Amino acid sequence: MSETISKEQAFDQKLANGQVIEPKDWMPERYRNQLIRMMSQHAHSEVVGMLPEGNWITRAPSLERKLVLLAKVQDEAGHALYIYSATETLGVDRKELIDQLHEGKAKYSSIFNYPTLTWADMGAIGWLVDGAAIVNQTALAKCSYGPYSRAMIRICKEENFHNKQGYQILARMMQGTEVQKKMAQDAVNRWWWPSLMMFGPTDKDSPNSADLMKWKVKLHSNDDLRQRFIDRTVPQADAIGIKIPDPELKYNEKTRHYEFGQINWDEFYSVIRGNGPCNHERMKARTKAHKDGKWVREAVEAYAAKHFN
Ligand code: 3HC
Repeated sequence: MSETISKEQAFDQKLANGQVIEPKDWMPERYRNQLIRMMSQHAHSEVVGMLPEGNWITRAPSLERKLVLLAKVQDEAGHALYIYSATETLGVDRKELIDQLHEGKAKYSSIFNYPTLTWADMGAIGWLVDGAAIVNQTALAKCSYGPYSRAMIRICKEENFHNKQGYQILARMMQGTEVQKKMAQDAVNRWWWPSLMMFGPTDKDSPNSADLMKWKVKLHSNDDLRQRFIDRTVPQADAIGIKIPDPELKYNEKTRHYEFGQINWDEFYSVIRGNGPCNHERMKARTKAHKDGKWVREAVEAYAAKHFN
């Protein structure tokens, strides 16, 4: 018994000293499982997240915009690979993780279950969704698990490009015709509240946060990061003339934060339970792509078996 306590104490001491936990270090099973849950769902989000934007690659308004969007979507695929690789350092195989996604046993971010109706949605996603990801992932880049934090450092650099290109799309449209301005505003009206939901339920309704904050995987709470995102984003909206679709939004000079309206948590839980506008379409596309790509995986495995064993 004392042996296990010393391992636990050594682990806690490492965290208290701000040290990073590496794959070969002893860790509580629950720490490992929490990381596998969170990291695999993060990776799934990156993969599914390619679908809404991929929908517009062939319909981009110019070759330049097509190239930028293509680069962004390819980046997301790379993000998924980094995070699946980081998750595998915890002793789990990505095949198992991907099967869990396809069998509906694992989640991905609710945000990707909304439709992309116009080109302005590409701007709203880059600016809001990747903007929210930057706030979340910048914190995760300092998390206690080495492979995850290192993956985040690389990913955050690319997210900044994603965020800027999205904001530029909207800024340009807001300097355009009345129709373009209306299209941009309509996209933000549809993406604003689901972007706030990306940070998860409120702290009091978050069953995983206590563990994750105790173990310094989450360095800030869901609500804190959500507030940080709002405070950072509202001035950006003002700068290009976009109106945030929240009549209760107002700046509090005392707290120096924006106060905001009530998030529709019924919608949030309905979407994460599989009843969002695009959940079925997304899973259908993912399972088809996985099935169609079977021959590629088999070819790679055959080559690896021949040349690397
Ligand atoms: N979508 C889907 N499920 C969500 C969710 C969301 N927006 N927010 C919370 N949930 C789920 C959680 O997974 C958990 O369910 P589970 O226990 O079955 O896994 C449940 O709701 C309760 O939420 P908790 O707050 O207790 O869960 P967490 O402590 O894990 O916090 C989180 C949720 C903030 C999303 C956290 O997991 C996290 O920071 N994950 C890493 C970042 C991430 O996954 N981002 C997703 C977007 S990826 C992206 O933006 C790509 C970019 O390139 C565009």
